[in-house]
Amino acid sequence: MIKNVFSPNFKKLISILNDGAYHSGTSIGHDLGLTRSGVWKIVKQLTSHGIALESVTNKGYRMITRIDLLEKSKIKKHLSKDNLSLFDKLFILDETTSTNDYLLDYAKTANGENAICFAEQQTAGRGRLGRQWVSPFAANIYMSVLWHFRKNVSELIGLNIVVGVAIIETIVDVYDISDVHLKWPNDIYWQARKLGGVLIDIMSEYNGNCAAVVGVGLNVNMPEQSAAEIHKPFTDLYKATGKLISRNKLSGVLLQRLISCLIEFEDKGVKHFITKWNRFDYLAGKKIMIKLVNKTHRGIARGINEQGHLLLESDEGALIQVTTGDASVLIPKS
Ligand code: BTN
Repeated sequence: MIKNVFSPNFKKLISILNDGAYHSGTSIGHDLGLTRSGVWKIVKQLTSHGIALESVTNKGYRMITRIDLLEKSKIKKHLSKDNLSLFDKLFILDETTSTNDYLLDYAKTANGENAICFAEQQTAGRGRLGRQWVSPFAANIYMSVLWHFRKNVSELIGLNIVVGVAIIETIVDVYDISDVHLKWPNDIYWQARKLGGVLIDIMSEYNGNCAAVVGVGLNVNMPEQSAAEIHKPFTDLYKATGKLISRNKLSGVLLQRLISCLIEFEDKGVKHFITKWNRFDYLAGKKIMIKLVNKTHRGIARGINEQGHLLLESDEGALIQVTTGDASVLIPKS
């Protein structure tokens, strides 16, 4: 699994160009101890990672948007001592296939330890139902948490609800935005477009308890060229807030809340999160369709039950508890 792939010069060049001003090849070469062709190679590396650079004769290079690379100390400062003490490892990777896969692999030898993993980019980011999660360099948040529960696998039903609540409450608290919603079972929406999603991988353990890798993907500032790879309506926090977002702050605050919610879930179960979910429920009252392998349900979404299952008042008048699947909102014919 890929870990840290960027040379120190790659990161130094980002920090030089982060002031938004032009820097000549000569001055960059001087600062990095490189020849002009060495500078050119690193510049090429930056652009091949989707970083937009302007190059003007006699002026040099300029980076169009500031890049806030992830830093442990900047993330950790948002975590309480108690929450931090529950983790043995905090990984920040330049690149990996998927942060969930990284922690699933780590769990094999982790001896019951909890761990956190962020990556600047994922080369095989995973969404639910085998979908791809587009994960360009230094643009968004790709975070996973390996957590060992004092619960068995069946007691983890509804964990998606808990994680969704942790994410949306963070966004609302930090950016004070409205029109954000939770779309059952695992989507974060802003103005009816996908802003983020949750992917949970569960492992049962020999002692009857289980562990989960909770993966969160949040679009922060999706570059145009990556947007072309996404085939569903999506958005990002930059569009939702109109502000440049500090990924370090968002990562830290989100992690702090997620850990606190996991602790609450251990003690109080998913019941404790139902009212919080309802406040942001995107589907409630809407006419929807759920496609299952051998069946399609249509009806009105009526919130979630105490296990976190979706309640559907079917066209036939029955109240169905939906445990899995993807819901599509049906637009009435005009
Ligand atoms: C979905 O909406 O389908 C779930 C998306 C989850 C994406 C995150 S990004 C961090 C973690 N690593 C992955 O490969 N996937 C999750």
